[in-house]
Amino acid sequence: MSEPQIPNSGRIIDHWLGGTHHFPVDAAAATEFADLYPGFPQVYRTLREFVGRAVRAVADEGVDQFLVLGAGIPTQGNVHEIVPRARVLYTDIDPTNIALGREFLSAVPDVDYAYCDAANPDTLDQEAAERILDPTARLGVVLVGLSISLDDRTLQNTLSALFDWAPPGSFLVADFDGEALASFPTILTKILDQAGQPLYLRDVERIRPILGSWQLTDDGICAVDVWRSPKPQPEHVFEYGCVLRKSYEMS
Ligand SMILES: C[S@@+](CC[C@H](N)C(=O)[O-])C[C@H]1O[C@@H](n2cnc3c(N)ncnc32)[C@H](O)[C@@H]1O
Repeated sequence: MSEPQIPNSGRIIDHWLGGTHHFPVDAAAATEFADLYPGFPQVYRTLREFVGRAVRAVADEGVDQFLVLGAGIPTQGNVHEIVPRARVLYTDIDPTNIALGREFLSAVPDVDYAYCDAANPDTLDQEAAERILDPTARLGVVLVGLSISLDDRTLQNTLSALFDWAPPGSFLVADFDGEALASFPTILTKILDQAGQPLYLRDVERIRPILGSWQLTDDGICAVDVWRSPKPQPEHVFEYGCVLRKSYEMS
């Protein structure tokens, strides 16, 4: 695997979470961002903890297979570590993340890493999907850390395609970048420069119509910090999170 020269957000997060699957270019970017806002590592720790609680809640509903979009680096409390007996297919568009994930997951049964562009779920590597996922069984889809780079229409189409594809009784764990970043224009400009594309920050009212036919669970849409957690409501919301279901009546 050749060493990447461009940082990747998934590997930057791995660095902040104390992981080991990143490169010098990622570590340098992580340090630069944390110099601008020292709270970043904690923001992503909080997000990963939300993934843990939400995935555990979905597993407690009897779901034992997960498709993860924009997975980044699948360690440090990621889905297969939270639900060790589940079948898990991690996906991303970044070839280095896919190669790294395949390498360190190779010994883990029923867990793999494959290509899928979340902007078009039809691009999902079908061979990997058939090998890991049972198309007739309820599915947990995880779409976290990704919506910032998808415009409303694309995100709506993605959620709609996932809804059509998932068997009734399936769940979707999603997050949406909140308004907090807008309070830090210097950081936003830097992220924009690095992403080289528009970024989408959303409040709850803007999130609701994107969800389409997915039904919100009683927890609603809230700061990921407080989703089934006693933590205090944050002053600025970096990430909103929710768990959605495809009810049996909707099939
Ligand atoms: C902010 S990271 C989030 C990683 C992980 N979900 C987490 O919470 O730590 C975003 C990830 O999405 C990937 N990504 C960006 N655009 C994507 C797309 N259109 N489809 C799939 N993955 C994408 C990036 O390569 C990166 O690994």
